Amino acid sequence: MLRERQLGTDGPLVGALGYGAMVLEGYYGASEDPQAVATLQAALEMGYTMIDSADAYGNGHNEILVGHAIRDRRGTAFVATKFGIVFESEQRGTALPTGWGFSLNINGRPSYARQAVDNSLKRLGLDTIDLWYLHYPDPDVAIEESVGAMAEAVTAGKVRHLGLSNVTADQIRRAHAVHPICAVQFEYSLWRRAAESDLLPTLRELGIALVPWSPLGSGFLTGTVASLPEGDFRHNNPRFSDQNLQNNQDRFAPVKRLAATLELTPAQLALAWLLHQGGDIVPIPGTRSIDRLTENAVAVDVALDGETMAELDRLMPPGSTAGATLV
Ligand SMILES: NC(=O)c1ccc[n+]([C@@H]2O[C@H](COP(=O)([O-])OP(=O)(O)OC[C@H]3O[C@@H](n4cnc5c(N)ncnc54)[C@H](OP(=O)(O)O)[C@@H]3O)[C@@H](O)[C@H]2O)c1
Repeated sequence: MLRERQLGTDGPLVGALGYGAMVLEGYYGASEDPQAVATLQAALEMGYTMIDSADAYGNGHNEILVGHAIRDRRGTAFVATKFGIVFESEQRGTALPTGWGFSLNINGRPSYARQAVDNSLKRLGLDTIDLWYLHYPDPDVAIEESVGAMAEAVTAGKVRHLGLSNVTADQIRRAHAVHPICAVQFEYSLWRRAAESDLLPTLRELGIALVPWSPLGSGFLTGTVASLPEGDFRHNNPRFSDQNLQNNQDRFAPVKRLAATLELTPAQLALAWLLHQGGDIVPIPGTRSIDRLTENAVAVDVALDGETMAELDRLMPPGSTAGATLV
């Protein structure tokens, strides 16, 4: 069983690695529901107790899948989901350019939040969501307003803890003043380290956990992505474009060699590095494979010495990856 970590200073205990369920929607290769349910259940059995979903993943399908997988396992699952990316055609939102050539449609209005929580509960088949995130702040809505509506869901017993995702340090402070925030999601890994500058210090000051998304660099840091199949969502990510992928692979080659020296896989080393950034960090790697769940779980018990941490810092310092990141 995975060791546990506390989600924020006063928060609940969860497995030191959570499970990122987005990969079960075909964004990074095909996924079949029966295997997806088996993988989710295996994750829970291994101690990946925090299951990370969002209403927008698979346009609601991911929450249905998670609900199905945990039906007889509610006691061991800590269910996290998100709202704010509009995916229903009848809903309107605010366009948020991603920097990747497309915009997301975001709705953080209180009226939408009230509908979204009920819809997520219905799809998950639950009375209460353990952790409910605002997926992206709505550029047209003050974060205080969005979080105020989310706090109503806590008061109503529909949600236990509140989270934010893809926010600035200033937005975290403003939201936390309205209602305590338990966790913040932001992309954080060896190939995107921007969270270290002002986000992480702010979270530590306020006693909020950091939940790094794409902790394996959307697969890159596993050292297994040589090219992408047609239709793969990562074609949108400039870090995987032909020239950038080559440059990034060249930079990553010594990290792969270092992992081999330590008798770890690159995925284990990347997750162990992240876990060593602090006990307040709970990464949520995604995989469709039960074997890889087992492989990644090893990272929780890996102890990296100061020399190895310094070497990784030297090999992949902040800003060293080629290609723009998502907003
Ligand atoms: N808040 C947000 O805006 C946001 C954005 C993106 C993601 N997320 C969350 O973060 C979670 C994780 O992010 P992610 O799925 O983008 O990226 P990730 O966890 O960094 O990487 C997932 C990829 O790595 C591969 N992989 C995993 N373990 C492996 C191993 N040991 N060896 C080789 N390949 C391995 C998986 O392939 P296989 O399936 O083939 O193993 C998958 O393609 C998502 O599921 C989602 O819940 C949140």
